[in-house]
Formats: sequence, structure tokens, C-alpha cells
Amino acid sequence: MSDIKKNYKKVVSKYWQKTDSKINASVPNETLIRLIGNLKFSYKRKKVLDVGIGDGANLIEFKKRGSSIFGIDIRKKKILDFCKKNHLPRKNFYVSDLNYNFPKIKKNFDLIVCKDTFYYLDYNRHLPFLKFCKKILNKKGHFILQFIQAELKEKKKKKLFDYSLSKNFKKETKYHERNNPINILTRGYINNLIQSSKFKLKVNIFDVSTHLKDKKFVTINRYLVLSN
Ligand SMILES: C[S@@+](CC[C@H](N)C(=O)[O-])C[C@H]1O[C@@H](n2cnc3c(N)ncnc32)[C@H](O)[C@@H]1O
Repeated sequence: MSDIKKNYKKVVSKYWQKTDSKINASVPNETLIRLIGNLKFSYKRKKVLDVGIGDGANLIEFKKRGSSIFGIDIRKKKILDFCKKNHLPRKNFYVSDLNYNFPKIKKNFDLIVCKDTFYYLDYNRHLPFLKFCKKILNKKGHFILQFIQAELKEKKKKKLFDYSLSKNFKKETKYHERNNPINILTRGYINNLIQSSKFKLKVNIFDVSTHLKDKKFVTINRYLVLSN
């Protein structure tokens, strides 16, 4: 077993604590907002929980549309700054390293979103995490789980405007930012997890993003909508 795998929980925690005071101006994710729109989710007076809030851009979008917003994150300073800046009640936000414990939450939510965060959990925390989310999701609620399914690297120079992923790209086994402790989760693994969690799979889509800093890489992002 490699050192990173043995110490995975510590590696994740260290990686994120280092960025606690970094200021990033993020934007709401278009695929996520469209997907929620397609579910005909009416935001007004709904409770929405974001697991791994990042800079909170998605939460602010949900608030604008009328929801009460809640969040969980490993980074305390990020949560404190986010609440202060946006005049949000601190009690709606939970500081927790999900690799070690889940916050005690007595509420239930109409929508739970976990985007670009699930793959920072150690393998033995995946199923307990899904069960934790299932418990705090309303009977008719939606749980949106997004993760990176694959990364592709350009293998030969594309012609101008060419976009064929199968011809010009090959699958990578690791995320292109080698110090970012992202686990790429295979479809068989996720399929088994969902079955074990007893969630129902309602929607299954993907989108593709490219990296502006390193144009050679393309990321396949999988979005699942799960329900009780
Ligand atoms: C890549 S960011 C994604 C942010 C946001 N969901 C988005 O899509 O823009 C990952 C977020 O998960 C949080 N996170 C990472 N590992 C975590 C852990 N073990 N427990 C709780 N939060 C964690 C990070 O602090 C960060 O805010």
C-alpha cells in the first residue's frame, strides 16, 4: 500500500487546511443548477444542504432562489468568513472532517448537494457517508452526488476545432494535479455503493470540463440524483 493510501485521511485534511484562508471568487455550477431545474425543484422555503461548500457560490444561488441554506465543511475559517460575509446564521453550518465524523444534525433536507467532495473521503467512509445523507434527506428529497469519473489526457495534437475525445485522448488513472488527493472512482465501485446504500438512482448524467491552465486535460464529471 502506498504512503498516500495509508495516510489518506491525514493527507486530505492537510491539503484543505492549507487553503483555509485562500480567497477564491467562484461561480455557481451551471450543470448543477440546470439539473435541479429539470427536477422541477421549487427552491422557495426549502432546506438545502451543501456538503463541501467551497466558496459557497452554489449555496448563495440557492438562497437567491428562496431556500434556507446549510453547509458542512472541513474548513472552519471558510465557514466563519462565509457566514459573516453573507449574514448567515452560524448554527446552520457544521465544521466537520467527514473522514473522521459526521455532524449531529437534527433537521431533514429537501435537497442535499455533494459536489467535488465525495472523492476526498477514504474508501471506508463512502458507504457510511451515503447512509448519513440518506438519514437526513426528506422522503421526497433529492441527493445530488457529483464526482470525477475519469480524466483524459491529450495524446496527439488536435487539429484546430477538433473535439474527438476517443481519437485524441487517453484515460488517466490519476487526477492531473498530482498533489490534489482526488480518488478517481470507477463506475462498478459507485454502482455497488449505491446499491448497498439503498438509495434509488433517479438521474444519471455527465458533463465534460477542460482545464484552462493545462489544456491537455479533460475531466468527465458524473452527476447522480439519488432519492429515498
Ligand atoms: C473541490 S471543493 C468543492 C467545493 C464546491 N462543492 C464546489 O463544487 O465548488 C471541495 C470542498 O470539500 C471540502 N472538504 C474536503 N475534504 C473534506 C472532508 N474530509 N470533510 C469535509 N469537507 C471536506 C473542502 O474544504 C472544499 O470546500
